[in-house]
Formats: sequence, C-alpha cells, structure tokens
Amino acid sequence: MAESVTFKNFIGGKWVPAESGETFQNVNPADRDDIIGEFPASGPADVENAVEAAKNAFEGWRKTPAPRRGEIIFRAGELMKARKEEIARAMTREMGKVLKEARGDTQEGIDTAYIHGAEGRRLHGFSAPCEMPNKAGWTVRVPIGVAGLITPWNFPLAIPTWKSFPALVSGNTVVFKPASDVPHCGDLFAEILSEAGVPAGVFNLVHGGGGSVGTAIVKHPDTRVISFTGSSEVGRGINATGGQMLKRVSLELGGKNAQAVMDDADLDLALEAVLWGAFGTTGQRCTATSRLILHKKIKDEFISRLLEATRKLKLGNGLDETSEVGPLINPEQVKSVHGWVEIARKEGAKVICGGEPSTEGSLRKGNFYKPTLLDGVTPGMRVAREEIFGPVLSILECDSIDNAIEILNGTDYGLSASLFTNDVRNSFRAMEDVESGIVYINAPTIGAECHFPFGGVKQTGNGHREGAHPIYEVYTEWKTIYVDYSGSLQKAQIDNQ
Ligand code: UN1
Repeated sequence: MAESVTFKNFIGGKWVPAESGETFQNVNPADRDDIIGEFPASGPADVENAVEAAKNAFEGWRKTPAPRRGEIIFRAGELMKARKEEIARAMTREMGKVLKEARGDTQEGIDTAYIHGAEGRRLHGFSAPCEMPNKAGWTVRVPIGVAGLITPWNFPLAIPTWKSFPALVSGNTVVFKPASDVPHCGDLFAEILSEAGVPAGVFNLVHGGGGSVGTAIVKHPDTRVISFTGSSEVGRGINATGGQMLKRVSLELGGKNAQAVMDDADLDLALEAVLWGAFGTTGQRCTATSRLILHKKIKDEFISRLLEATRKLKLGNGLDETSEVGPLINPEQVKSVHGWVEIARKEGAKVICGGEPSTEGSLRKGNFYKPTLLDGVTPGMRVAREEIFGPVLSILECDSIDNAIEILNGTDYGLSASLFTNDVRNSFRAMEDVESGIVYINAPTIGAECHFPFGGVKQTGNGHREGAHPIYEVYTEWKTIYVDYSGSLQKAQIDNQ
C-alpha cells in the first residue's frame, strides 16, 4: 500500500499544518482500504489566522482592477482544463462519483471560470438621469470584505468554483472550508488558484469539520459574507448567527425534486431521464430526482420498464469506466439511506427494487447501496416529503396535470422540478404553477448550467441564487455616487417641487 500523504492548510500564501498539529484521515468511499491522506484537523485558531491573512490581503485585491482579477480566474479555468483528467480521477477516488460525472463536475468548474473571468470586464452598475440639472448619478458594485465559503462533498470542484470565482472577481478575499469528505479536491483547487496568480492571502483554505472550522468561520466578526451549501438544518443555524451579526448569508439547502410523467409523454425519454436523475451521482445531488409522479394510465407499464432498467445498473468503483453507479460518500450515509428505506417500509410503501447495501465481491470494501424503488408512496409519507440524498426513488400516482402539480408542490422544498409531456398546455401550466427555482420540461431534474441562476424556493434557501450574474448580488454592495456640477446648492425634493 502506498505511504499515506500529509496535506496542509493554505493560509497567507503558505502551506501550513493545523496549529494543533492534529490530522484526520480521508479514505476512498469505493475502497475504504485506500487512504487518500492525512489532512489538518483545524480549529478556531487556524480560522483566525486565515481571516487575518484575508483581511490583510483585502486592500491590495480590492484595488486590483476587476478585469485583471477576472483574467486570473480565467487562467485558473485554463489550468483546470489542462489538468481535467487528473482532477477528475482524484475526485472519483475521493468522492466516488463515476469518472464520466467527475469529468462533468470538473467541466462545470472550468465553465464557471470562463463566465466569471469575463465578468471582471462587466460588473455592471447603472446610471440614471438626476432630478436636478447639472447633476449626475450612477452606481458601482464594491466588494464586501472577507467571504467565508463552506462547501459540500457532492460537487467537490463545481460548487467551490461557483462561490469562489464570483467572490474573487468582485474583489473579496476568501476563507474556504471544503467538506471534510473531499479535502483533497479542496487542496487541488487552492493549488490551482495560487498557480493562476491569486496573490497570497486572497484565497485561504482551512480543512476540518463543520462544528470546529465551519462554525468559527460563521462566527468570526470579520467574515462579512457567508455562502453555504448543505443541509437545511445547518443552514438555519448559519442564518441565525449571520442574522444576529448582520452578515450577508447565502444558503443553498435541501431538495425533494420530482419528475412527473403524463400519459401523453415520450416514455422512452422519460425513462432515460429518471434513471439519470435518480441514480446519477448515486442520488447525492441537491437536484437529484427523489420522487417520480406517474400518470395512472401509464403507471404500470412505466414501472415495469423502470424496474428492469434499474436492476441492470452496474454498481462499482467509479474509476472503472463500465461502472454506472458509484458508492455513497461514507458509511454513515449508508446507514442514513437504509434508515429511510426502513421508514418507507413502516409507512406502508413497497420496496420493489434494492433496499439494502450492496456487499457482493469487492463492493464489500466500499459504501455501496443498491438503487432502490419505492412503490405505493402517497404524498403524506415522510419518504415523499423529506430529503434522502441517496439512490432511493419514491413513486407516486397522479390522475391529471392539476394533481401532478399539487404533488410536485407538496413538500417544504423547491429546488428543481421536471415534467414530461407533449401537451403544450400542460407544459405552460407547469412552468407557471410549479413552486421551484428550476423547472425542466422533458428533461431530468439534474444538469443545471452555470450561467443560469441556480437555487430554490421555500426551505431550499434564503432567496439567493448562485450562477450567472445574480450571484453578484451576494458578493457586492451597491455604492451610489452623485456629482453635482451646477456650482450651487441644489436641494433634491425641495428645489424641484
Ligand atoms: C448540487 O447538487 O448541489 O444541476 C449541484 C446539477 C448540477 C449541479 C448540482 N449542475 O445537477
């Protein structure tokens, strides 16, 4: 077995161990004997150092022209492109998603670099005519300060880029904590940013757990903007702390996304879509299809085809190009997913496929769980309303478009929704009435593109969006500038009544 590698934090442009000297081990979820390395088990003291470095670097970075900041981010995209295969392989080894998807995750990071790199030349404000003569008014976007970015393990590169690139292009400096299940990807990301020319202290990486490092980032008085992707429970706590401290907080939380299939739909397409949406990334996407709503006229036929196709999915180590479904991220997640299947059974749903960990042959060494279908789920059941974050699909029945929309909307979440139909009226009804941040017609619930707003309604977030230009509402403040060149005191709202 290869010797274990020891990784470090990246603070103020230097690779340093945790102040405590403590480390934690990270392993491959497809083969727990494969140790990826030892990573710093950091705490508040390391966060303090990172925030200090980010504060010191802020003035220089703020004054660096935005187009220049954008060029550096663009260069990071070029570096990721050159190292795409290496990053994807490291990601599959560390996170478990199959190689094809790890390449996709990396590609999403590259695309994100290109759009935000170019944004350095836009960062548009606006001007408007003033009420008084010989007076001008316009707006500019200014950075906020130190941004604390806390990211999940399911998109180890894409999500850190979604947050870091616009934060940096805006002129903020960053303290970044990647999920402790994917620290190696976080390490590669910091290395790339440094090589791209991000100056020392502008981007700082602190490894460790949410309770120690994450909490310290959120509570630090000098992190003025916090962006978090993860569970609604943790998000609520972050929002409460951030609210008390009057911080800007952007949250991207849970989902309970559904694909509805009407009786006039192209069933071949709907079948391919649900397999991809439900079992891609082993169901571990915020956007994963967790519910399938079938029109009663096509239900039996569709389920029998789905059952056959699901049984054929090949589980395995994602580095094997023939694997279609990788492992879950860790053994706790296997327990949690299985717990949901037990709940489903108790609630009266029928497990018609899967429903247990997969331990055949070498799968025993990893955190594999069989793709699972739950039939007979009704809207009131917990498995129809709560997030599972694994390869478990709850199947419900509807009898009309109104009924489908009612079920689609019947959860506390609202990230991504999909409708399969060839009826133009049904499509437009769904586009108008579905309560979610993203609506797909004749496409699965996964696969959002980085230059469109990404995020959801209800318990999925707190109203912000990632992606595209709306993200700049998170990372900048507006400054409004008035210039009076009349040479006299002009009183707005008084002199011009
Ligand atoms: C997530 O699961 O948090 O839309 C992100 C998608 C991907 C991003 C998912 N582009 O499925």
